[in-house]
Amino acid sequence: MKHFLLIANWKSNPQSLESARVLARSLEREAKRIRGVDIVVAPPYPFLIPVQRELRKINLGAQDSFWTFGPYTGDVSPRQLSSLGVGYVIIGHSERRIYHGETDSLINKKMKAVLEAGMSPVVCVGERERTGRDIPALVGEQVRGAFREIPSRFYARIGVAYEPVWAISTTPGAVPDTPENSFRASMYIRRVLADAAGKKSADSVRILYGGSVSPLNIGSFVRDGGVDGALVGGASLDRKAFGEIIRITSRAR
Ligand code: PGA
Repeated sequence: MKHFLLIANWKSNPQSLESARVLARSLEREAKRIRGVDIVVAPPYPFLIPVQRELRKINLGAQDSFWTFGPYTGDVSPRQLSSLGVGYVIIGHSERRIYHGETDSLINKKMKAVLEAGMSPVVCVGERERTGRDIPALVGEQVRGAFREIPSRFYARIGVAYEPVWAISTTPGAVPDTPENSFRASMYIRRVLADAAGKKSADSVRILYGGSVSPLNIGSFVRDGGVDGALVGGASLDRKAFGEIIRITSRAR
């Protein structure tokens, strides 16, 4: 059985190295005795090493990676990340798609490069506006784009985070999605993956929900939302909230 996966996406927080250390230490304490859940903290790049020193049970993640190395000022290569011990890399987060113009084809290059470097990519997909019951075709396009030409033997190492932009806590007027909709999205994503690589490979991908995850709603998402975990933004900056999220998830199976 697949382990649940919880990823703390700190985004561009906190604002000092000392605060990052303190937060990492406190999340590690919360995670220490948990079984059956893979827990990842993805701090900003400059804090990767100092945060790693505080972690034992929790795995180290990065919030992005470039797809190659060389004369690319400001970019960080997959091999550089894997040489630090980074195991998971968030790719194509909506904030990167929106503020940095990342396209499906760039995201696909990054996915391949992260896999080649031996790490696990977690690609984010999701529509910007709330539509209706049906999951927009755009989500399928994003999934197909991200997985293009990726051999099915890699699928078990990949995560897909369904993060409807309208549900992300920093979007004005954000409300969390419902477990019913998350279930529909995860079924849809699995169908797209099954069409590309067969059911067995599709089932080996871990699908996460992201968007205003909190201790109040995580239980319903992991029980009824058809997902194998969550990508947590705001609540991952709060020791108590993230601790609760971890405990509720570990009891869900
Ligand atoms: P949120 O962020 O949990 O604060 O909504 C999730 C994300 O953007 O990854």
